[in-house]
Amino acid sequence: MARNNTDLLRGRTALVTGASSGLGVDFARELAARGCNLVLVARREDLLRKHADEITARHGVRAEIIAMDLAERDAPQRLYDQLKTAGTQVDVLVNNAGYGLYGKFTELPWERERNMLELDIVTLVHMTKLFVADMVGRKFGFMLQLASIGAYQPSPLYASYSAAKSFVLNFSVALNYELRGSGVHSTVISPGITATEFLKVSGQTPTLYQRLSMMQSPDVARIGIAAMLKGRASVVPGFANKLGVFLPRLLPLNASAAIAEVTMR
Ligand SMILES: NC(=O)c1ccc[n+]([C@@H]2O[C@H](COP(=O)([O-])OP(=O)(O)OC[C@H]3O[C@@H](n4cnc5c(N)ncnc54)[C@H](OP(=O)(O)O)[C@@H]3O)[C@@H](O)[C@H]2O)c1
Repeated sequence: MARNNTDLLRGRTALVTGASSGLGVDFARELAARGCNLVLVARREDLLRKHADEITARHGVRAEIIAMDLAERDAPQRLYDQLKTAGTQVDVLVNNAGYGLYGKFTELPWERERNMLELDIVTLVHMTKLFVADMVGRKFGFMLQLASIGAYQPSPLYASYSAAKSFVLNFSVALNYELRGSGVHSTVISPGITATEFLKVSGQTPTLYQRLSMMQSPDVARIGIAAMLKGRASVVPGFANKLGVFLPRLLPLNASAAIAEVTMR
């Protein structure tokens, strides 16, 4: 198991996807505070530039930005090739870019849903596939994969999103197990509702339960990076979220879905 050594990442490089807003920015800040250089990726170049400048001014690390739509089929390969050509060695991969779609499955437009599934599942696995091989070769590396508490139970009105996050949860824990003894770790974090652009993008007005249980993005990021550096398989930030993933396991799946729908409606 890796140690939570504050110098472990000094002078290393972390690639953070979805670093133009929300959790991605705070993951980047946490990593930079440990002396880690950054490659920040998302589509909105102006925001990437703003965050990179702020982080560099504050922590004195290098922060490169790459504006890219990671839902495009060949994007992970292009990104990997670009970094390889530039001689950038990625020691930390934060697979954070993603979004959800709120609404009845029968009413969500397929093109948006397909794009979400591409980004949340296929891109995440492809990025992992590309970067993990070099990490294993060097016997050093950390990955942080973004799931959700929705990964732990069937969630009506987020049916395909929560199922995609169940994929991420199981994929990462299985991969981390395969990687034991390699010096490389894959940690999956499953946040509950967190104050970011998530709800605006998903199209949901926050419910009372979500307003009461909402966490702040810097707190979630701090917990995620700490768990990653300990080489933990999985982490659920916050007491309410921990309870929220434990209790449904005691119920039949259909009852669990009924409760999820009440909290989401
Ligand atoms: N906030 C929550 O309540 C919550 C709960 C559980 C899990 N999560 C997960 O946490 C992760 C981060 O979300 P967030 O809450 O921080 O939401 P957010 O503020 O909306 O951030 C999402 C990030 O992903 C990027 N992104 C979206 N589509 C992209 C694409 N096609 N190509 C490249 N980048 C793309 C966005 O940048 P651009 O728009 O500039 O491309 C943005 O930087 C997601 O995987 C989400 O599913 C969030």
